[in-house]
Amino acid sequence: MTELIEDMPRLIQAGMGVHISCARLANVTARLGALGVVSGVGLRHIVAEQVRSGDQETIEIAHTFPFKHYVDELMEFAKGGERHNRPVPMDHPDELKGAISKRLSVIAAYVEVMKAKKGHCGKIGVNVMWKCALTVLPTIYGAMLAGVDALLCGAGVPMELPDIVQKIRSGMNMTYQPLHGTGTNVRLDISEDKPESFLKRMKPPKLMPILSNFAFPKRIMDIWERQYQGAKPFAFVLENHLAGGHNAPPRNKVDFGEQDDIDRYFDRVLNMGVEVYVAGSFPNGGNREDYLYWRERGAYGIQVGSRFALCEESGMRPDLRKRIINTNTNGGSEIETSQVLSPTGFPFKAVSMAGTLTDKEVYKNRKRICNRGYLTESHFEELPDGTIKETYICPAMPLKQYLKLGGKQEDTENRVCLCNALFSTAGLYNEEEPPILTLGVSGKQVTRHYSAREVVEDILTPEVVREAELRLSIPARENARYMPSFSTMPAVAGI
Ligand SMILES: Cc1cc2nc3c(=O)[nH]c(=O)nc-3n(C[C@H](O)[C@H](O)[C@H](O)COP(=O)(O)O)c2cc1C
Repeated sequence: MTELIEDMPRLIQAGMGVHISCARLANVTARLGALGVVSGVGLRHIVAEQVRSGDQETIEIAHTFPFKHYVDELMEFAKGGERHNRPVPMDHPDELKGAISKRLSVIAAYVEVMKAKKGHCGKIGVNVMWKCALTVLPTIYGAMLAGVDALLCGAGVPMELPDIVQKIRSGMNMTYQPLHGTGTNVRLDISEDKPESFLKRMKPPKLMPILSNFAFPKRIMDIWERQYQGAKPFAFVLENHLAGGHNAPPRNKVDFGEQDDIDRYFDRVLNMGVEVYVAGSFPNGGNREDYLYWRERGAYGIQVGSRFALCEESGMRPDLRKRIINTNTNGGSEIETSQVLSPTGFPFKAVSMAGTLTDKEVYKNRKRICNRGYLTESHFEELPDGTIKETYICPAMPLKQYLKLGGKQEDTENRVCLCNALFSTAGLYNEEEPPILTLGVSGKQVTRHYSAREVVEDILTPEVVREAELRLSIPARENARYMPSFSTMPAVAGI
């Protein structure tokens, strides 16, 4: 079998939101020779809450961020800070009012990636959820400042990705009206930061769209080539519909069938001349046999999610992990694909479990609230004076609020506020909000507790992992050599 290309691992530990793929998990898998991926979803809240709780590692890493005003704003959540008792701000369409949440999202992504990179020179990626349009640009910017190795973009078609990376590397402001496939207008102003002199000395991250058919990889190849000076992805992650989290809609818009199966498009995508990782198509749950099967068919490697979501280093609440593993052992968890649950309109795999939002009583008793805002979309209304007002709306928000903002009642039925529910699953705000669990079908095969190391060894073999660990470990005193250093950054006026 061929050598690694530019040291890119064959195994991807999938980026699973919210905070299931946390820095701790990605750090462990990367030092063992996998591509460790952190989830980019919800980081503004996660990191601000870590600062609020006095987490020293987070605070120390945040202080290495190159632009002081971002650090000061994040530190306002620390004890004694101006925002210590205030909620973490939501995105806002107004340029001025929305600026702070963007800056917090930037520094939060930086902190998470830096944590994942600490103590080794393995590869770290960030999963950018395209449907969380408002945080796409800040997350990519923050992750790039931390020297992220790969950008893996799921839940959407990342058409503008090469342009975004290029503009960030050149320190240019950017606006996309709307961000492709989202209906949401996004902007990021970075020219005053002047990040270019530093970023130009770093390798650009590898671009890895996560897609589930032939048509979108083909469009990406054509449009990137034409519009972005021959840009190409490093790889496509082809995600079959059995994968956890959100799935691409079925072709017949009703239910998944053979026509949606990865076998229908795998060979055609492979022939495009770009590397391919396979996800969500593992009869053995994602083990060595599955890995060898796909390697023999020509894939560069595989991306495994559910097995990592249930391991000890995952960010999933231990009580929930335990319940799933127990249920699996005693007959098997039920995992259903819901076409309506997610406010994104994409199918979503949910584990049926009492006490979570798949439980009708729990759903009925939850009071709707929209106070995180990661899945909100732009909504435009023409005012009597002819001006256009932009607001952010989500079909899982309180009904009255949604209707007042111009939404339709039928869009709200049976929607789950995934922001709050998935934060709860990761142990954040869980006293206020019930959780929801997502897993791929392969998650049913997990019947015991294990570590991330066991999963990586089971796929790559203990020998390969041992060799990778030796090669990728770095002594603490040399850590700084592998982390971005901003000492030569030009001073920024007024900061
Ligand atoms: C708990 C969980 C959360 C997930 N969240 C995301 C996500 O935020 N973004 C994404 O692109 N994929 C997400 N996925 C899909 C995984 O990245 C991966 O492609 C998939 O789980 C692979 O299939 P497997 O679960 O059978 O290993 C999630 C999967 C799980 C199990």
